[in-house]
Amino acid sequence: MSALFHRSCNAALPWADQGEGCYIVDRNGKRYIDACGGAAVSCLGHSDLGIKSAIATQLEKLPFAHTGFFTTEAAESFADTLAANAPKGLDRVYPVSGGSEAIEAALKLARQYFLERGEPQRTRFIARLQSYHGNTLGALSTGGNAWRREPFAPLMIETSHISPCYEYRGRQEGETPEAYGLRVADELEAELQRVGPETVIAFVAEPVVGATLGAVPSVPGYFKQVREICDRHGVLLILDEVMCGMGRTGTLFACEQEDIVPDIATIAKGLGAGYQPVGAMLCSAQIHDTIAGGTGFFQHGHTYIGHPMAMAAAGAVLDRLTDGKVLPGVLSTGAVLKDRLTDAFGQHPNVGDIRGRGLFQGLELVRDRETKAPFDPSLKLHKRVKAAAMDAGLMCYPMGGTIDGRQGDHVLLAPPFILTEGQVDELVGKLETALKVALS
Ligand SMILES: Cc1ncc(COP(=O)(O)O)c(C=O)c1O
Repeated sequence: MSALFHRSCNAALPWADQGEGCYIVDRNGKRYIDACGGAAVSCLGHSDLGIKSAIATQLEKLPFAHTGFFTTEAAESFADTLAANAPKGLDRVYPVSGGSEAIEAALKLARQYFLERGEPQRTRFIARLQSYHGNTLGALSTGGNAWRREPFAPLMIETSHISPCYEYRGRQEGETPEAYGLRVADELEAELQRVGPETVIAFVAEPVVGATLGAVPSVPGYFKQVREICDRHGVLLILDEVMCGMGRTGTLFACEQEDIVPDIATIAKGLGAGYQPVGAMLCSAQIHDTIAGGTGFFQHGHTYIGHPMAMAAAGAVLDRLTDGKVLPGVLSTGAVLKDRLTDAFGQHPNVGDIRGRGLFQGLELVRDRETKAPFDPSLKLHKRVKAAAMDAGLMCYPMGGTIDGRQGDHVLLAPPFILTEGQVDELVGKLETALKVALS
C-alpha cells in the first residue's frame, strides 16, 4: 500500500531508478527509451553532467533567497541570456516554477497592464479549442479541451474558444493551406466583433499545439493574420511555448518560424530539461514599463519564483541550447525521425497523419484512412498504445480526444535532443511493436 496520492489512483507504475542519456532505467533494470521526455521535458536526456554540476555549484553557494529580499547572480544571468536570445520585443523575464504558473502570470499581467492603462472593461480572453495551457484554474479556463474543463467549468474565468488551425481535419477540399489559415484566423475577428473587442484582454495560443492535438503546427500566414487582428484591436497576443518552445521545433522559440513576436510568451518544460521545475513568462518592454511607470508593482508572485537552483539549471540549459550545435541537431535529427516515421507508418492503415516540427512529431490514429474516421473512444486506444509501449521499453505520449475532446487518438513524440540515429531506429521499431499490439 502506497501513501502517495498518484495521478491515477489505481495504476501500477514501474519505479524509475536511474537516468542514462535517452533512457530511464527502472528498479528491475528494465530500460525505457524516452521518446517523449515525459511531457516534452527532458530535452537533454537524464544524465547531463554540465547541468547537474551547475545545480550542485549553486546548492553549495546558496540554495534559496526569497525574491522579495534579494536578486541573485543565477537569476540575473539567466534572464540576460534568455532576453538576449529571445525574439526582439520580448525584453523582460519573469521566472516561475512551471508551465501553468507561467500562464497564470501571463493572464494576470495582461489584465493588470490594461488596468494601468485605464481600460478596466477588458475582462475576457479568447483562446482556441483543443489547446492545453495547464491545470490551474486560469490556465484551465484558457485551455480548450472539453474533457479536461468539464468538471471545473463552474469555477472558470470568462474565455471564448475559436477553432484551432488543424489542417488535417479543418482544411476543406480545394482550399489552399493559406486560404484555410486566413479563414480560421478570421474566426478571431468574428469573435472579437461578437463580444466587443474593447472587452478583450488577449488571445492565447500555442504556436505548435502539443498535448491535446499531437504536434500540430499552423499553416503559413495564420499567425501573421492573428497578429494583425490583435494589433488592430489593441488586444494582446500571448503565445504559450511551454511545450513547443526551448528548441523543441528547431528554433529556440517556436514563433520564430512564424515570423511574429507575441506581447507575452510562456516557456517551461525544456527550460529546466527536467533537472529543475522551472518556467518563465517573457513580456515586452512596453508592458513592463507601463507597470513600472504606474503602480510599479506586478500584483503577483509565489514563494519559489526565481529559485536560485532552478535559475542555475535553466541558465545551464540555455547555454547548451544557444551553443550553436544543439538546435541544428534538432532539425537534422527531426528530419531523420520524420523520414523513419514516414517509412514505417506512411502507408499504415490506422495512421492518418504524421505532423510536427523538429523533434516534436505527432501521429494521428484513425480507424479508416480514407474517411479519417476515428476509433470508438470507448476502446481507449491511446491508453492501450501507452501500455504496449511501456511493455516494449518505450516512453511515448499518446492521448485521446484529439478531434473534439472526446473522439480521436494521437501519439506525441518529443525525444531528447541528444537522440542518435540508432536510437531513432530503436524508437520507431518499438513504436511499431506497440501499435501492432494495441491494434490487435
Ligand atoms: C502548452 C502547455 N502549456 C502549459 C502547460 C502546463 O505546464 P505544467 O504542467 O508545467 O504546469 C503545458 C503542459 O503540458 C503545456 O503543454
